[in-house]
Amino acid sequence: MTATNVPGRGRALIATAVIASGLILTAVFSELHAKSEVAARETSERYMPEYTADGDLILPKNFEKWVYLGSPLTPNALNGGKANFPEFHNVYMQPWAYEEYQKTNVFPEGTIMFKELQLTIPAQFPDGSRTEPSGRGYFPGKLNGADVTVKDSKRYADTGGWGYYNFHHYEPKAPTAKLKPKAECGYCHAASAKKDEVWTQFYDRLDH
Ligand code: HEC
Repeated sequence: MTATNVPGRGRALIATAVIASGLILTAVFSELHAKSEVAARETSERYMPEYTADGDLILPKNFEKWVYLGSPLTPNALNGGKANFPEFHNVYMQPWAYEEYQKTNVFPEGTIMFKELQLTIPAQFPDGSRTEPSGRGYFPGKLNGADVTVKDSKRYADTGGWGYYNFHHYEPKAPTAKLKPKAECGYCHAASAKKDEVWTQFYDRLDH
């Protein structure tokens, strides 16, 4: 039967049914779409450490959008010309881990502490400082690699529940990094960092 030989009322009913089912489909599709958007947002909002098949850590994604905690600075000029890290040490952690820490005072499993190194702009004075319109001091320049720690009590049971990684001490950062032995990193954090191998004493927002 074609639409032309359907009586008037029947045609109206069909039209109503078509419109109604169209509306239902639209509602279902927009609901599905909204759900997948929420799922995508939740995944990106709860970024977890990612590993290669060999177990190396993949350079964390979007770390520069995470919660910024602070920037210890140990310039060369104040360290006999050979600071281990002469740059600003800009430290970030995932927003979801930060939120959980604020509630529980414990670093949750999957926390990543991302320390991005950033050189100071070349010095004008022997102590490494220079003068800018805001005053005399140290000013951030080029990025220069990263050190990263990851909390996973099972995976890193030998190093107090944290894994230590270096993504180059220059740019561009390495795409992946191998786990560092305790003798290179973890021993010092375990000995002197204030809370759970993190130097919370230098990050006011975590120091409670
Ligand atoms: C001799 C001690 C020492 C060693 C060895 C050491 N660190 Fe640290 N690390 C520190 C101190 C002190 C801070 C905080 C102050 C600063 O950045 O200057 C820090 C901060 C960090 C941070 C920022 C988060 C936090 O815990 O405060 C990361 C990430 C980090 N170190 C990774 C590493 C990695 C990876 C290695 C090995 C390649 C390493 N560290 C070796 C002393 C050490």
